[in-house]
Amino acid sequence: MIIAGVLESVAIAVTVVALVLFLFIFIAVMRDRRSRTPVPPNLKPFLEDDALETTRLERVLQMAVVSVLFLGIAMAVIFVMEPTRQERAFEELSEKSVERGAIAYGPTEEVIDGEKHAISGAFGCQACHGPEGTGGAAKYTITDAAGEQKNVAWTCPSLNDVLLRYSEEEVRTILTYGRQGTPMPAWGEEGGGAMSRQQIEDTIAYLKSIQLSEEEAKAKNAEVGLVKGTYKDGKLSSDAEYDGAVLFDSFCARCHTIGYSYNAAEAPGSGGFGPSLRGGSTLEQFPSAEDHIAFITAGSEWQIAYGVRGQGTGRMPGFGLMLLPEQIAAIVDYERSLTGGFAGTTPAVDSRAQEPQSNVTPGEEQIPAEPDVTE
Ligand code: HEC
Ligand code: HEC
Repeated sequence: MIIAGVLESVAIAVTVVALVLFLFIFIAVMRDRRSRTPVPPNLKPFLEDDALETTRLERVLQMAVVSVLFLGIAMAVIFVMEPTRQERAFEELSEKSVERGAIAYGPTEEVIDGEKHAISGAFGCQACHGPEGTGGAAKYTITDAAGEQKNVAWTCPSLNDVLLRYSEEEVRTILTYGRQGTPMPAWGEEGGGAMSRQQIEDTIAYLKSIQLSEEEAKAKNAEVGLVKGTYKDGKLSSDAEYDGAVLFDSFCARCHTIGYSYNAAEAPGSGGFGPSLRGGSTLEQFPSAEDHIAFITAGSEWQIAYGVRGQGTGRMPGFGLMLLPEQIAAIVDYERSLTGGFAGTTPAVDSRAQEPQSNVTPGEEQIPAEPDVTE
């Protein structure tokens, strides 16, 4: 890097000096020519044969050697400098991409002198996902089972950790096609949205630039569901205990519990974007708890099989880079205890049904509860 930088400065200096010298010599020669009385070329005196075959020939050969040396050195300098030049060009282009992505992510309007102006290239992700991707909420109208329309506030996930749970390719797919039936629209042209491929790439570059590190994300989440013990300086005390139900609500329920994102949660694990996890279905899919843990840790991948009969789509995030292994183990324990009926047809009858649930919509409490089969 440094050597190439120095070489570059030297090369530029040499070129400038050579150019200036050439210019001087050129001007001097032209002046000299003009000042002499013109002689017809066939009468011009020239060197004798002796001189032509010795001194003159030698000088021409010397100049050829110097030119070859010069070209050789120049090629070597270019060879050494080229990777750095490319690296720098790449860095510059990447920085510009992040800048464009920040605009795409940011607000769609600005107020100048009391007047609203549209910002070109802005798509307003921030309005829902919060500045710097910290999460937020969006107004949304849902049609409930009775066919009635309701205005709700739909929780929007944080995005400053989205690349910890999804691959870049998976995020590209989410951006392009959106999440049907939620406030998250399709943004990419292929999905019917307004963003060009370049704008999608720029937005992903911006998202990359605001990601928490694995350590930061784990530290931020370490106290969620912690009921005993402490988490300090990246270390969990040996007596630590986690409540799987709390963790499930915080990280899984938005996809696996109907209505969870808009404060109308049905039975935990009743499904939604992800499959229902009730009725002991996870015990069937993952006879071994280790496989279950491995799946939650890594998430799913497009067309990669999982469990006994699972076929991944890449939509199930992996949590190994943002939750501690102890947390994932607690969630898995909890999931394996969700033995009530399927898909929200039965209100929660598991351990949490006895707790007052503010997010149960009025009227639903009247549905008779079925006894939990395994308890
Ligand atoms: C009108 C609100 C709204 C806007 C605007 C919006 N989103 Fe979303 N987004 C959501 C909601 C809500 C979800 C979660 C949907 C669900 O519950 O499955 C979501 C989900 C996502 C996800 C998946 C994250 C995960 O972990 O599930 C990504 C990535 C994402 N949005 C990126 C963006 C980007 C980038 C933009 C701007 C181009 C954007 N969103 C604009 C509301 C919005
Ligand atoms: C962004 C939405 C989303 C979130 C958040 C999410 N999941 Fe999933 N999950 C899915 C989808 C979608 C599938 C189906 C598999 C696929 O499409 O790849 C799935 C599949 C599963 C399965 C396999 C179910 C089966 O029977 O095949 C389990 C178990 C599971 N998730 C547990 C969890 C746990 C535990 C969490 C929280 C730590 C979680 N999920 C968070 C979307 C999500």
